[in-house]
Amino acid sequence: MTGIDLSVNICGVEWKNPIATASGTYSYFESSRYYKPDRLGCITTKGVSINPWNGNPGPRIAETYGGMLNSIGLENPGIDAYLSPSGELRMLKKAGATVMANIAGHTVREYCEAAEKIASSEADMIELNISCPNVECGGLVFGRDPKAAGDLTKEVKRHCPGKPLVVKLSPNVTDITTVALSVQEAGADAVSMINTLLGMRIDTMAGKPVLAKGSGGLSGPAIHPVAVYMVYECAKILDIPIIAMGGVSKADDALEFFYAGAKAVAVGTAAIVDPEAPVKILAELEKKIIDRREGK
Ligand SMILES: Cc1cc2nc3c(=O)[nH]c(=O)nc-3n(C[C@H](O)[C@H](O)[C@H](O)COP(=O)(O)O)c2cc1C
Repeated sequence: MTGIDLSVNICGVEWKNPIATASGTYSYFESSRYYKPDRLGCITTKGVSINPWNGNPGPRIAETYGGMLNSIGLENPGIDAYLSPSGELRMLKKAGATVMANIAGHTVREYCEAAEKIASSEADMIELNISCPNVECGGLVFGRDPKAAGDLTKEVKRHCPGKPLVVKLSPNVTDITTVALSVQEAGADAVSMINTLLGMRIDTMAGKPVLAKGSGGLSGPAIHPVAVYMVYECAKILDIPIIAMGGVSKADDALEFFYAGAKAVAVGTAAIVDPEAPVKILAELEKKIIDRREGK
């Protein structure tokens, strides 16, 4: 520990530093073998829905140049398991972590019910996933249409009045700023961006897609410049904070996001390659800041 203060306040919640995990790439039960979750500013948990979801059939992961494709389809044990005494949220809170609970739904009602349950839980913040490209209904259906995104945000906000609501935006749109403005107007306390980009790989021996579902979401270093551009464009017009993600695998990638206007940064795919990536990136960031202060 360097002792420098990197704390940030994200819509009323104090993060001890600006580095978080990205939803779906951290699990308390696996990742806490590598580092204590309270070392990061925030742990964003995998999307949970009101009922358990099985996700998509395999294969649902494929490697790509500079990243990976996934079509997990938000497999999760359901919100009651997540909130149970042996569930992930309790474990994380016991370990002293700041937690952002990511929620998913097929319908407005499902999103609202999930938000209501999280609102009366120990979670510090709620992340509304309106951008998953891997589910047939819900997800992108809301995230692609500024009006639908705004309407859903307004409705969900009514069901979780006491908790900051972060809306997770999709890059799979013509103009992400219109969706960002719409959710801000509807009451979002912050936005997180970006979710994965729609993509596909074809197995040239079989002549068919590698992923059983066909398409998937592209993540990792390959999407970083796209994410930086989108954060930059949104930061120019938004009043609410931006939590940026997309291909962060070293401190410099995080710094690019800060210069683009983000208030905090999340690490996703890099942690699938190396589970310790978020804490290593944090340590590297601290060192860079100290070096700059000392004129090195
Ligand atoms: C395997 C996997 C699962 C994911 N699951 C979720 C999820 O449940 N909810 C969500 O909002 N985003 C999910 N994402 C998207 C990430 O949180 C993040 O927005 C995206 O991967 C870009 O960041 P990265 O390039 O650092 O991975 C998932 C990504 C991956 C790779």
